[in-house]
Amino acid sequence: MRVGMSTSSAPSSLFNLDALFDNPLFAGGIGLASLGAAAAFARKGAIVALGAARRRLLVNVEISKQDPAYPWILAWLSQPRENPGFLASRLTRIHNLSVTTTTSSRGANLGGPSNAHFFLQPGYGRHIVKFGGAYIAVNREKHSTANMNTGEPHEIVQLTTLWAHRHAFEAIFSEAHQLAAKANEGRTIVYAARGMDWASLGEPRKKRPLGSVVLDEGVKESIVTDVKDFLSRQQWYVDRGIPYRRGYLLFGPPGSGKSSFIQALAGELDFGVAMVNLSEMGMTDDKLAYLLTKLPKRSLLLLEDADAAFVNRRQRDADGYSGASVTFSGLLNALDGLAAGEERIAFLTTNHIDRLDPALIRPGRVDMMLRLGEATKYQAAQMWDRFYGDVDKDGSGRERFLQRLDELGLFGTDREGKPSNRHTSTAAIQGLFLFNKNDAQGAIDMAEGLIPRKFEAEDTVPDGAIKTPP
Ligand SMILES: Nc1ncnc2c1ncn2[C@@H]1O[C@H](COP(=O)(O)OP(=O)(O)OP(=O)(O)O)[C@@H](O)[C@H]1O
Ligand SMILES: [Mg+2]
Repeated sequence: MRVGMSTSSAPSSLFNLDALFDNPLFAGGIGLASLGAAAAFARKGAIVALGAARRRLLVNVEISKQDPAYPWILAWLSQPRENPGFLASRLTRIHNLSVTTTTSSRGANLGGPSNAHFFLQPGYGRHIVKFGGAYIAVNREKHSTANMNTGEPHEIVQLTTLWAHRHAFEAIFSEAHQLAAKANEGRTIVYAARGMDWASLGEPRKKRPLGSVVLDEGVKESIVTDVKDFLSRQQWYVDRGIPYRRGYLLFGPPGSGKSSFIQALAGELDFGVAMVNLSEMGMTDDKLAYLLTKLPKRSLLLLEDADAAFVNRRQRDADGYSGASVTFSGLLNALDGLAAGEERIAFLTTNHIDRLDPALIRPGRVDMMLRLGEATKYQAAQMWDRFYGDVDKDGSGRERFLQRLDELGLFGTDREGKPSNRHTSTAAIQGLFLFNKNDAQGAIDMAEGLIPRKFEAEDTVPDGAIKTPP
């Protein structure tokens, strides 16, 4: 009994919980504390539950500025739309706008202020739009981080709607895409490298009609047919496991219409043009290879001045530095190395075919080579008709023009039929016609100006002397 007493009294003196809880002060404190804890717990629970509910009930789409859909969505958001009902019309007003201005010097008042087009779009912050029956919360945000390549701050647009209305997004994206397609209808987008990215070079320009580029008989048709045939054969390539790529090399003297033709061809095919100038400073092998892996969809790759890479034949300097421009091996790798995109139509242009290396002209790199050369009689006649066809109905002016060019030996032969070593370019003929816009006779009178300003074989020039054009 004593033993029992002593054992029970010893712990009770140490942890006398009953006594502790009997203490009203302590019990009160504990009660309050646990109430607080419960409240905090409940609050946290509520936040988690809300978050979960949000995640379950709402759908979010985030579009970053790097995505091609970004400008489409902004344009779509800025479309005027009528919302019936007091609440809807108040709720969906966009109060915060930003403006993108494009100017063009088209129009009558040349010299005066140019035409400006303002494109209003939702500014940064939150907006609500209504699409069909769905309310959509829009949040446009600029981040404090920037794209390392372009230096532009990251930007996103976030669209949120109820889970039940999630299908609205598909409709919105397709509507926005159609809107963008309509805005660019009849236009050719030209992309150029900006940093390590492709960016549209200025506003999309009006399509150049294929008919406005005058090539020698049959030349245009041969390329157009080949490209169209290639475009219709994708499955053929896929079935055979061949990369779906085709390359063209256009070469010839300056001003023969190489660049113009590619631009017109892109318009004809409803493609854009992704342009890289290989002689451009800062275009390195790595950059070229990287850019080619992420070519804009539906665009022709245009590599201008391909000979620049031949000049840079040297591979790498001793210190491993690959130089400031593209090397020959860099070009070959970009065209059909591992990093080369799976789908691609590439056009290379050069003025110096003699600097070319046979390694380039291999199927898969260049499949077709075409020379766009000096103006032929056929081209001169076609161009005349394009410029003066409406005033020179009987074609007599054209005959006199062609005869004059022949007299001047500009078609390669002189009056006796011997080689004259003299040619002119289609660009020069265009220049002559532009100068004499409404004056066909003036063009004939000034035809002498088409004689190229360069040394000719029969000219005797003392060593070292430079003959400047008149
Ligand atoms: N065959 C042609 N038909 C119509 N216009 C032409 C033709 N060739 C040249 N032109 C005109 O001449 C100008 C220069 O042409 P373009 O830039 O296409 O020449 P290019 O062959 O690319 O020259 P370069 O080798 O110097 O790059 C353009 O304004 C173009 O309209
Ligand atoms: Mg060119």
